[in-house]
Amino acid sequence: MPVHLTAALAAAVDQLEDAGVASPNFDARELLAHVLKWERSYLVHQLMLDPAQHVSTNQAHQYQQLVEKRAQRVPLQHLTGRAAFRQIEVEVGPGVFVPRPETELLAGWIIDRAKNHDAPVIVDLCTGSGVIAKAVKYEVPSADIYAVELDPPAHQWATKNLAGLDIQLFQADALTALPELNGVVDLLLVNPPYIPLEAWESVAPEARDHDPHLALFSGKDGLDFIRKLEVRARTLLRPGGELGVEHADVQGEAVVHIFATTGWWQVALGL
Ligand SMILES: C[S@@+](CC[C@H](N)C(=O)[O-])C[C@H]1O[C@@H](n2cnc3c(N)ncnc32)[C@H](O)[C@@H]1O
Repeated sequence: MPVHLTAALAAAVDQLEDAGVASPNFDARELLAHVLKWERSYLVHQLMLDPAQHVSTNQAHQYQQLVEKRAQRVPLQHLTGRAAFRQIEVEVGPGVFVPRPETELLAGWIIDRAKNHDAPVIVDLCTGSGVIAKAVKYEVPSADIYAVELDPPAHQWATKNLAGLDIQLFQADALTALPELNGVVDLLLVNPPYIPLEAWESVAPEARDHDPHLALFSGKDGLDFIRKLEVRARTLLRPGGELGVEHADVQGEAVVHIFATTGWWQVALGL
């Protein structure tokens, strides 16, 4: 029997809310739009225009299955298979870190700086799905972009997402990769693992149970990777080159300390 669109949606919102999902309204609509193969904006429009319309029995069943998985805290992006980021999208799923909205700020910071150069050499050292590299290339097509990922499954996702783009992707350790670029990189960007190991229990199930742990954790205080990055970044950057690193809010002072005490100029908490 066909199901009322608004009833299916309301039931999904209740189920996701009960399961502790942080954004039940948003996620319920995203999943419904995915099942109906509609753009989200079209769904919202339809809900206003014709709230009495129905979805087929098959679609209702498919929707219930996805909502059930989301209620078990499978990431929304694993269920839709894609993640939106600035003006682009990437494909994601098991084996790769799901891009976060806050990382759009790091990408924006790099893009603003890149626009001051003719053909900047840009390196994304922990590329994961390749999302930042892809977003930067989209907004600064003249950039000469290199992306590095250590984890084989994540590297496979990046290969898919960066296919056909003029971006050089390497499967390698960020802390030793690209020696041929020593001293010539204009802009270096890194969204590294930075969660303290001891914070494991407080990490949301979507991340803890579905993002690769190599993408999340970095030693007791979460700063092991960034300490090593400081050394590598000094070698890669040309004189006057710039580095942008994402970190947790509470790590701001500690990260500034790492760079300010090792001779870096103009170390600042940005965004
Ligand atoms: C927080 S995720 C960021 C992914 C992507 N840049 C984003 O913002 O969505 C960190 C990524 O760094 C990778 N990684 C961790 N240690 C690495 C290393 N030593 N060398 C290269 N990649 C590394 C992880 O596998 C993961 O894909």
